[in-house]
Amino acid sequence: MAIPVVLDCDPGVDDAAGILLACARPELDVRAITTVGGNTSVIHTTRNALDLLALAGIDGIPVARGADRALMRPFLLGTHIHGATGFGGVTLPDAGRAPLPIAAVDLIARVVRESAEPVTLIPTGPLPNIALFLLLYPELKPRIAHICLMGGGVYEGNATPAAEANFRNDPEAARIVFASGLPITMVGLNVTHRALFTAEHTSRLRNTGRKVATAFAAMLDFRMRAYGEQFGFAGAPLHDPIAVAEVLRPGIVTTQACAVTIETDGPYTAGRSVVDLSGVTGAPPNADVAMDINVPAFVTMLLEAIEQYTD
Ligand code: RIB
Ligand code: CA
Repeated sequence: MAIPVVLDCDPGVDDAAGILLACARPELDVRAITTVGGNTSVIHTTRNALDLLALAGIDGIPVARGADRALMRPFLLGTHIHGATGFGGVTLPDAGRAPLPIAAVDLIARVVRESAEPVTLIPTGPLPNIALFLLLYPELKPRIAHICLMGGGVYEGNATPAAEANFRNDPEAARIVFASGLPITMVGLNVTHRALFTAEHTSRLRNTGRKVATAFAAMLDFRMRAYGEQFGFAGAPLHDPIAVAEVLRPGIVTTQACAVTIETDGPYTAGRSVVDLSGVTGAPPNADVAMDINVPAFVTMLLEAIEQYTD
């Protein structure tokens, strides 16, 4: 049976890849997409989610808009990596569809309450929607099977030298999620930076002649330039679909059970995921932390998923 999942995301080029992967695969049943600001404002991330679904011909997935700020602070938008409107300067045709007139947190609750099976949450943006869901609907926590999220990293940062962008954007929310007691898999930068996409991959996507693959290749062009100029990378990582890939093919990342907490203070350290790899704190593990990835399997899985969207 397909695993019921909710994608909570800030599309965003790599979030778009996560959506396309999740919706392409029979192992997953995407029950809802909820949006949050982060890569750009939530107005744009919501529009992007709706327009991407329409471009790909994906019908019937409810979309609801979520938070446009963190619990305790404003977001620091990632437009330097994703462009002003989030898709690397690529404008998709208007879906002509609005999000549901309910808040993201309430849509998550509705899906979880109505599901016959426990639901897996796949957050790939800042975490205020998930933290608020946990705070507002504690009775639904037993109905969450797993939270497999993209965020943090082991000894790596990108928003600051110490902190990854999703956790940096809402450190307090991330701390609430890691203190929830729910099964958590943390897919962080130490793993996502190992799978880089290059011109070889954009050529392959363009050669399909298909509109979703071609649009995604244009987004990836922008991202490769941004990562080259800003981080000196020889390609672009696509962080978010790795969290999706781990749900649909458990073991595509290898993990280590660790105690993880999130720093909430300091100009550089707020949002830092402190991963106790060697157990020095004595705290019990609260997350399975991704330590390595099967890069060829992931790259092939993602490209094949994007290529299967026909016009
Ligand atoms: O640090 C990478 C993460 O921040 C990804 O989820 C990206 O989409 C941004 O949200
Ligand atoms: Ca994201």
